[in-house]
Amino acid sequence: MTELSPTPTDKFSFGLWTVGWQGVDVFGGAIRPPMDPAYAVHRLAELGAYGISFHDNDVFAFDADAAEKKTAIDSLRRALDETGLGVPMVTTNLFSHPVFRDGGFTNNDRDVRRFALRKAADNIDLAVSLGAKVFVAWGGREGAESGASKDIRAALDRYAEAFNILGQYVLDQGYDLRFAIEPKPNEPRGDILLPTVGSALAFIAELDHPELVGVNPEVGHEEMAGLNFAHSLAQALWHGKLYHVDLNGQNGPRFDQDLRFGAGNVRGAFWTVDILETGGYQGPRHFDFKPPRTEDESGVWASASACIRNYLILREKSRAFRADPEVQQALAAARVDQLSVATLAQGESLADLRAESFDPDEAAARGMAFEALDQLALEHLYGVRG
Ligand code: GCO
Ligand code: MN
Ligand code: MN
Repeated sequence: MTELSPTPTDKFSFGLWTVGWQGVDVFGGAIRPPMDPAYAVHRLAELGAYGISFHDNDVFAFDADAAEKKTAIDSLRRALDETGLGVPMVTTNLFSHPVFRDGGFTNNDRDVRRFALRKAADNIDLAVSLGAKVFVAWGGREGAESGASKDIRAALDRYAEAFNILGQYVLDQGYDLRFAIEPKPNEPRGDILLPTVGSALAFIAELDHPELVGVNPEVGHEEMAGLNFAHSLAQALWHGKLYHVDLNGQNGPRFDQDLRFGAGNVRGAFWTVDILETGGYQGPRHFDFKPPRTEDESGVWASASACIRNYLILREKSRAFRADPEVQQALAAARVDQLSVATLAQGESLADLRAESFDPDEAAARGMAFEALDQLALEHLYGVRG
């Protein structure tokens, strides 16, 4: 195995809320003390991160006054200067305070929607002042538990209105900032709006400035919906919409586990790294995990550094897989390259094709040779090749 030390060009980043998670869940309170953001920045720099992300209220309290906000932001800036870390992404907490009990941008209460817009706009200014290029919008509370309580079509109107207003604001200010919607099927709401990458992509196409809005897919969220995360990434890339990514681990459809990246569905993690490394994605490799409540602070850092390590391990394996001559033969035998050839030849018409003869029985007799190919992938993953 070659070098597993991260460098800034690997672009590993962490949400401050990940290592700072105190372990509060629905059945129990905090099991770890609060973590100072500046301290987290220093520790993450030591682990090899190139950047951090945060929600506004990871850095200052919801009810902080102007002076308190300034003190908190200055302290964060100092830590960033001392470590050389950047802030590639910022996001807004529109879910913790009781005022967001029915969401922010799609709350039935118009006053709350107006407040959510204000909070997001304030945070956009902060994001830009720290050099962030991506503004993630995870609508965890935008949803419903019951049928009649939410007019979903009206909620989508209001959701679109929010992105249109904030997008126009970014354009008017001349900010170099794009939005990334983070889909999730459920939790904390019974059903969340824009539950999957596919739903978010369809929604984005209806916005006034679709070019300003992409997606921030999360491993666990797509897998909670029983979907193939690597396929979701590939489709987002195909649409030119993969603006950011949340990497973590999940074991199939159940509650959002937020395991460290590489734990959970290991095979899925391999194909996730493979598509990120070969599909043209240039953004941060951003970890959004929760060190389990079983851990003390040393377990938090063990979990965080394992995210990086597992990514690098899987990147090595993906590279070895792609470089293996037997794999290249197996790919050719599986006719993977043929899928990149247009189905009609240049200048050929549908009429030309229909005039051709074709023997379905002959074509049906050809096996696809996928099993041999997939076994080679598994053997790389299991560590007996490469
Ligand atoms: C979750 C989400 C969040 C978001 C974060 C950024 O399921 O809790 O993944 O961690 O990523 O709020 O907006
Ligand atoms: Mn999550
Ligand atoms: Mn996330």
